[in-house]
Amino acid sequence: MTEDHHSAVVEVRGISRCYGEGEAAVHALRDVSLGIRAGELTLLFGPSGSGKTTLLQILGALLHPSNGEVHLLQQRITGRDEEQLAALRRQHCGFVFQHYNLLSTLRVWENVAIARSVVDATGSLSRHAEEACTLLRQLGLSGLERRFPNQLSGGQKQRVAIARAMLMKPRLLLADEPTAALDTVAGRRVAAVLNALAHVRRCAVVVVTHDRRLIPFADRVLTLADGELVSDQRVHANGQMRPYSISVHPPHR
Ligand SMILES: Nc1ncnc2c1ncn2[C@@H]1O[C@H](COP(=O)(O)OP(=O)(O)O)[C@@H](O)[C@H]1O
Ligand SMILES: [Mg+2]
Repeated sequence: MTEDHHSAVVEVRGISRCYGEGEAAVHALRDVSLGIRAGELTLLFGPSGSGKTTLLQILGALLHPSNGEVHLLQQRITGRDEEQLAALRRQHCGFVFQHYNLLSTLRVWENVAIARSVVDATGSLSRHAEEACTLLRQLGLSGLERRFPNQLSGGQKQRVAIARAMLMKPRLLLADEPTAALDTVAGRRVAAVLNALAHVRRCAVVVVTHDRRLIPFADRVLTLADGELVSDQRVHANGQMRPYSISVHPPHR
């Protein structure tokens, strides 16, 4: 086994997150510990308000926990300043949102290539464009490269957003309800793409969702309730779920 199999791409230890202060304080996460590995697609379930988005943002270094530690690629990132976090995010994390966040005035291939060309100004645009088109082909979007976002279906837009994230070659891809606005067929297609991203490219993929139809595409299912991690299960090939038993470092208490 490679190092890949053992170590978490991102790990949180005993984290909690509070919004506001005093009487008005909301405890969005309470004492959550978990590690996310490369090569796995993890689904994160839980009722609205249970802390899913908060956890996703902490995993992606978009938000600090109030307490506890975060380790990204074995580096402790707790306490780093915003500039350092931004650099880590750029280098290692990709984000996909429910509403795609594509730029309406740019063509599909430009939407995919733009973030990469901003970050990697030394690479030529034509090389980024070529890579963008290869990715679009792999995601079943050949022939749509020169369209604008409003000429695509929801499922196609979401796959463009995934291609944009993939072009940055992230070790960790975080998606917040990526199939919520899609019909069943489009949702399955997006789920299959996210599964391949985990399994073929060995990315760590975490998807917040309410859609239980995505479970067959996943390796692991986490459930939050009232800010607590109430279950952590492995999905087996036969669709059965068992406790996710490979433990990570215990939290420091
Ligand atoms: N920026 C914020 N300010 C105050 N409260 C927030 C903020 N973001 C989230 N919350 C609260 O924290 C709890 C968890 O929110 P969130 O992580 O968005 O849950 P979910 O994604 O599961 O719906 C909710 O009670 C929500 O109202
Ligand atoms: Mg949310």
